[in-house]
Amino acid sequence: MANEQSKRTAALKALEYVKPGMKLGLGTGTTAGFFIEELAKAKIDVTCVPSSNATETLARSLKLKLIDLNTALAAARIGEIPQLDLCVDGADEADKKFNLIKGGGGALTREKVVASASKEFIVIIDDFKWVDKIGKYPLPIEVLPFAQKFVESEIKELGGTPKLREKFTTDNRNIILDVTGLDFSDPLDLEGMLNNIPGVVDNGIFAIRNADMVIMGKGKEFRVFEQ
Ligand code: 5RP
Repeated sequence: MANEQSKRTAALKALEYVKPGMKLGLGTGTTAGFFIEELAKAKIDVTCVPSSNATETLARSLKLKLIDLNTALAAARIGEIPQLDLCVDGADEADKKFNLIKGGGGALTREKVVASASKEFIVIIDDFKWVDKIGKYPLPIEVLPFAQKFVESEIKELGGTPKLREKFTTDNRNIILDVTGLDFSDPLDLEGMLNNIPGVVDNGIFAIRNADMVIMGKGKEFRVFEQ
């Protein structure tokens, strides 16, 4: 499939930024999965922090060295900011200002924590996901089950249409609302506004912690965009 080839191309290019000894955040999804496979093949000596149970299972099956985020950050030397060196992840949409929509796989909350805890954040996508303006992809929002109806009504107040992701529970035991119809003219503002609704755990806009680099694959070709 052309799309799959594009994702693999981006994943392979991202491997060039991985150096021995790094603490590395691993994203979730098919593109991140290709990166994880290539990383395992390359046998670079890194310690990885997975952003989901699925990624943990995959990385473990490929014999990558794993550590949880708290342990990784606690291991910082005195005087050093506790951070991972690099996070590599996919996205559902990325725009020219490096804002993202993520969470198609439902792992957005942990993905955002891992990306925010990393010095460098590289996003790997196929060319269909490189857009002028994010917001066409339904925005995933992780919500406490207890707060579902309240959050839905607050989202409607903001002009959005929430749809419960059926038969899906996040790794944090929450639900996902996939939301259309919101105004994305200021993604930074919208990200904060949605996260201010009590009961919202996090939303899939990555504007506060946007990408430092986007690697876009198109077939066997790639382009690298850097802030
Ligand atoms: C998971 C994500 C993924 O990165 C995003 O959905 C892209 O997935 P894929 O690489 O399978 O197209 O945010 O929560």
